[in-house]
Amino acid sequence: MRTTRRALAAVVGATALLVTSACGPGEDDTAASTVEVFTWWAGGGEKAGLDALAGLFTESCPGQRFESGVVPGGAGVDAKQVLAARLQHNDAPDTFQVHAGAELLDHIDADQVRDLSAEYRTWGLRDALPAGLVADLTVNDRIYSVPAGVHRANVVWTNDQVLADAGILVAPKTLKEFIGNLERLRRSGVESPLALGRDWTQLMLLESVLISDLGPKRFSGLFTGTTKWDSRAVELAIEDYARIVEFSNTDRDSLDWPEATRLLIDGKAGYQLMGDWVTAEMAANTFSGYDSFTFPGNGMAFQWLADSFVLTTGAANPEGARCWLETVASPRGQQAFSVRKGSIPARTDAPTDGFTDYQLEAVADWRSGTPVPSCAHGSACSQPWQNAANAALGAFSTSGDATALRSALAAAAKQFIRQP
Ligand code: BGC
Repeated sequence: MRTTRRALAAVVGATALLVTSACGPGEDDTAASTVEVFTWWAGGGEKAGLDALAGLFTESCPGQRFESGVVPGGAGVDAKQVLAARLQHNDAPDTFQVHAGAELLDHIDADQVRDLSAEYRTWGLRDALPAGLVADLTVNDRIYSVPAGVHRANVVWTNDQVLADAGILVAPKTLKEFIGNLERLRRSGVESPLALGRDWTQLMLLESVLISDLGPKRFSGLFTGTTKWDSRAVELAIEDYARIVEFSNTDRDSLDWPEATRLLIDGKAGYQLMGDWVTAEMAANTFSGYDSFTFPGNGMAFQWLADSFVLTTGAANPEGARCWLETVASPRGQQAFSVRKGSIPARTDAPTDGFTDYQLEAVADWRSGTPVPSCAHGSACSQPWQNAANAALGAFSTSGDATALRSALAAAAKQFIRQP
């Protein structure tokens, strides 16, 4: 192990940087070349998905040894800080997890990731991935990352018993109905009807409200400059958002997403807006008393994000990293990962055996829905933009100052938007 990793984790104050390999105790792995795979998948379905890929990698890439560099924390908010520090100190892992789309741009500009166009040709990947996703992954005719799976962000999860106890038996279709149900839950004695977590989960909620109030096209325009943040429509959406946040747990800023999901599982809340990686968390907690629906008013919008992997320019073992990427890209890799992680394969030809009904529906919705990107999960926003938006949401959670929130979001857009 490169010693600098531990030192750097200490420098950036990360919660933990765990490095594990796929070799068992006592196994002789000295002859193998190591591939360090950097992610934030430390537990639950996230780790199970990563482990499945690691197993396939060990099988398919003889002479290569998997080493997991993992920094826990939902949406990678902590991992990305550690990664940035490592890249700056020329201590790149061989490959790292990054969201497809805008989040990748800064790494490309900084020449931290390699062009994978030749690998895409060799592996036939352009034809196996949906054309829209390939377009989102392509920058100046080059392609720099391999998607492991696609998640949907704009989904509300329920605790059916809590809802039934309050006499709520049908999914709300509009924001107004949703707010009505939140009021009803509170009247029936549920103190915090909506389970909510820290900053980035609040940004997810705001994004869903914006999709409802602005529609998919104008929502997407917020990140390309065709929709203004300082408009009356955004102001009204922020009012709706503020109203909804009033129904959430007051300790939200100190909870990561699995802890907020715990509130739902324990019957302390009736609803949670979260990406569909939640299904793996429900399974890990053997909780089946839940249902889900698209955020009220989002219509056919499929707010997507894709976890992808890159080959770093500083990779100590580029050949091994290529074999990792090929494993991730393979139909078997995509199935094995998604079945545990709760995502859906990015490839259109990957097998879907073992998928839940929810996942099969998500596969169909991904084909027929209106794709909308996510800022909280990097398909719409660069990393600095995400940081600024998260900070604005965290500040609002404490102050409740809607005007300050709108100004901060407008300022972030002005500062970080990229002109095409
Ligand atoms: C990632 C998912 C992950 C989720 C929560 C998202 O940004 O794309 O893979 O499960 O964050 O950590």
